[in-house]
Amino acid sequence: MKAVFRASALVLVITLAACGSDPAPEPTEQIVVREPGADASEASDTTAPEPAGEATASLVAAGKSAFNTCIACHVLEKGGANRIGPNLYGIIGQAAGSADGFKYSDAMASSGITWTKEELDSYLANPAAKVPGTTMMAGAISDAGQREAIIAYIEDASAN
Ligand code: HEC
Repeated sequence: MKAVFRASALVLVITLAACGSDPAPEPTEQIVVREPGADASEASDTTAPEPAGEATASLVAAGKSAFNTCIACHVLEKGGANRIGPNLYGIIGQAAGSADGFKYSDAMASSGITWTKEELDSYLANPAAKVPGTTMMAGAISDAGQREAIIAYIEDASAN
């Protein structure tokens, strides 16, 4: 979240500077700092068609920092290497266990999962419950809002 707050502070400074000469400045910009998943109404707006608005941008930014938990084991870039875990680039929509050259557990390889956002969400909530026998020994995320943010970040990063 730090980066989000810093970016917002920067926007504020720029906005103030731009309005500095005006004696009664109209607010020209609305600053939205969103705690992902903070309440049900926010959770539901992600199922609506999403404009590429500030809320989405801050969700992706939050996901990028939450993904720090994953980078010890996972790369998220096109053509990136497998590390302790497989490269996660383009994982959404992909069959589980299909990164080239990565040695998966039998449990993952034969799970039959296709990684929709919902499947990713339940795996990240509790990897060992979702795929009993998985060799992913860390990375469980108990906070639903954080999972939502991480998945938004994975989707965003895979579009580049
Ligand atoms: C300690 C290392 C480690 C961490 C930390 C970790 N993972 Fe993993 N991950 C793995 C390993 C190892 C596998 C392969 C599991 C298997 O074969 O059973 C895996 C598999 C996966 C898969 C399935 C990939 C596929 O190709 O089917 C996803 C999705 C995933 N991890 C996401 C994440 C996310 C998101 C995070 C961070 C929140 C994370 N992982 C954190 C080691 C890790």
